[in-house]
Amino acid sequence: MMPSLSSWFFTTLLCFFDVAFAGDPFVFYDWTVSYISVSPLGLKQKVIGINGQFPGPILNVTTNWNVVVNVKNNLDEPLLMTWDGIQHRKNSWQDGVSGTNCPIPAGWNWTYEFQVKDQIGSFFYFPSLNFQRAAGGYGGVIINNREVIPVPFGLPDGDITIFLGDWYTKSHKELRKDVENGVDLGIPDGVLINGLGPYRYDDNLVPNGISYQIINVEPGKTYRLRVHNVGISTSLNFRIQNHNLLLVETEGSYTVQQNYTNMDIHVGQSYSFLVTMDQNPNTDYYIVASPRFVNSSWARATGVAILHYSNSQTPASGPLPSLSGEDDPAFSINQARSIRWNVSAGAARPNPQGSFKYGEITVTDVYVILNRPPELINGKWRTTLNGISYVPPSTPLTLAQQFKILGVYKLDFPNRLMNRPPKVDTSLINGTYRGFMEIIFQNNDTTVQTYHMDGYAFFVVGMDFGEWTENSRGTYNKWDGVARCTTQVFPGAWTAILVSLDSAGIWNLRAENLNSWYLGQEVYVQVVNPEKDDDENSLPDNAIYCGLLSSLQKDQSHKFQFSVGSSFCSNSRVMLFMLFLALLESLFGIWSVVLKVN
Ligand SMILES: *[C@@H]1O[C@H](CO)[C@@H](O)[C@H](O)[C@H]1NC(C)=O
Ligand SMILES: *[C@@H]1O[C@H](CO)[C@@H](O)[C@H](O)[C@H]1NC(C)=O
Ligand SMILES: *[C@@H]1O[C@H](CO)[C@@H](O)[C@H](O)[C@H]1NC(C)=O
Ligand SMILES: *[C@@H]1O[C@H](CO)[C@@H](O)[C@H](O)[C@H]1NC(C)=O
Ligand SMILES: *[C@@H]1O[C@H](CO)[C@@H](O)[C@H](O)[C@H]1NC(C)=O
Ligand SMILES: *[C@@H]1O[C@H](CO)[C@@H](O)[C@H](O)[C@H]1NC(C)=O
Ligand SMILES: *[C@@H]1O[C@H](CO)[C@@H](O)[C@H](O)[C@H]1NC(C)=O
Repeated sequence: MMPSLSSWFFTTLLCFFDVAFAGDPFVFYDWTVSYISVSPLGLKQKVIGINGQFPGPILNVTTNWNVVVNVKNNLDEPLLMTWDGIQHRKNSWQDGVSGTNCPIPAGWNWTYEFQVKDQIGSFFYFPSLNFQRAAGGYGGVIINNREVIPVPFGLPDGDITIFLGDWYTKSHKELRKDVENGVDLGIPDGVLINGLGPYRYDDNLVPNGISYQIINVEPGKTYRLRVHNVGISTSLNFRIQNHNLLLVETEGSYTVQQNYTNMDIHVGQSYSFLVTMDQNPNTDYYIVASPRFVNSSWARATGVAILHYSNSQTPASGPLPSLSGEDDPAFSINQARSIRWNVSAGAARPNPQGSFKYGEITVTDVYVILNRPPELINGKWRTTLNGISYVPPSTPLTLAQQFKILGVYKLDFPNRLMNRPPKVDTSLINGTYRGFMEIIFQNNDTTVQTYHMDGYAFFVVGMDFGEWTENSRGTYNKWDGVARCTTQVFPGAWTAILVSLDSAGIWNLRAENLNSWYLGQEVYVQVVNPEKDDDENSLPDNAIYCGLLSSLQKDQSHKFQFSVGSSFCSNSRVMLFMLFLALLESLFGIWSVVLKVN
């Protein structure tokens, strides 16, 4: 769609002001979130699309850029978009989870504005409320290195985002009802790759007429594949027939570069691989995402896409590449331990204060967090962390803190399981500003769980089967544990992370598995800077009010003026116009004119 002249001018002015004064460019997106009708597995379904796309558009930005996303909620229920892995330094107001923002009511819009400060890497966004991710609404986030910071590998010939995820033909509303009623989600109806069903690799397992993803490549070239597990609760193994996956990045950290023939990607995790098209170019190859640690009745839930060499005339053939005896958690935990940080790669660093020699920093707080499978609490199916099932208050935590409303939450989350019956509550972790926190996740469930922390990257320092004890610290990787934002915890096992709490705010720590999260497996970490500094972001002007503060909310006039898909400061036309203005400015000092127009 062609943007109007005035919107171009408006964008240009903003870019111009920005380039002239703040340095870091702005990028603008306008999104309409609504149901669209698609049939990934042959059955017509209502899925959540963004501007009519499923998966949604990719946010493709560069370190330190300012991102403005105007989100219009055209669903029939409240919406919040969250940006997994984007740190929103000192600004949890843009985080888009129930504790930080009032939901955007159906028919309203809300504009997120955040800076991707000091970050690089591959992430994704998704709708965070009401099990909506099970209906889609997700898309990729790419943060490129600034030009002055070298990438630790040659420029790839292409950059391809791949979303994997278990998928059900039931709607997200039916699925969340099941979860509320203690009904197991059961075997997924499929695994989607980029929103599409499987290639028909087996006539008995895959019906005719399903559209599948084809990834087009040129022989001899090398591509960066950014692979995300955006599913509900299934751990997936990703592999490409006959091709090596050279791991280079995970969730914002460049890794030690190693080849893998397959990689376990758990719910919410993201990896970048370099894949070289070095095989016989006359044939196609399978790209597979298959559920992990399950029995053979899960075979129909296998994601299959096609890697197509440009001159290939032969379809992919033979059985899918197998996991020959590697389908066991011990293999998987070893693989996870083999992923290490490239400590010499130049990049934007997570946790500026805590980077590099994290093994030498004194730990200030220790939390051993035990999860339990769903259980009945007061007659309702709930999940817990340390015996507490989180209930979101009607007033978001950030607003309660800002307006000093007491009684909305407590700062009494226990640092280990207490000897008392489980309960539902709004208990937060009282984080120490600039403290260095050690968290040990102990998984008492029967399936792999992943845990994610908003606002930070954490160092994954240890992972093992059995119960964690103080002695387990002897096995920690104190040198090159990778900094990321989502880690897996195997059933009957523990995972230890270290995180430097240098960003004030109220930050969500949660299970990424939707069913565990939905029933209460989350907590928030409040981090207060006793001497608030200047770059700490305050309540945004456009904040929506709800709960105890709903009287402050004005009605939103239901007019959406923007019609631009996305506009972009480095667009050549805008660039030219900016250069032109800059030239005029230097020649005639038109500053005052520009100011008047604005
Ligand atoms: C992202 O944008 C950069 C320009 O800033 C471009 O070179 C690159 O191809 C884009 N990547 C994708 C995946 O669109
Ligand atoms: C809704 O979108 C309009 C532009 O269409 C914008 O001016 C307004 O600030 C947005 N509302 C909020 C609360 O962000
Ligand atoms: C780590 O990064 C450095 C610097 O970019 C690079 O030269 C080196 O090859 C990388 N090492 C590994 C093992 O990936
Ligand atoms: C990874 O495998 C490719 C072949 O696919 C090979 O060319 C490359 O040297 C390997 N890299 C490493 C770091 O093992
Ligand atoms: C296979 O797994 C499913 C669910 O994960 C379970 O319901 C079923 O009983 C298992 N089948 C066999 C043969 O063990
Ligand atoms: C939270 O921790 C701070 C120190 O970081 C302390 O001053 C405060 O009293 C604690 N609050 C509660 C309720 O424990
Ligand atoms: C969960 O805890 C129970 C009792 O504390 C224990 O018997 C069981 O082995 C644990 N299960 C796992 C998977 O950790």
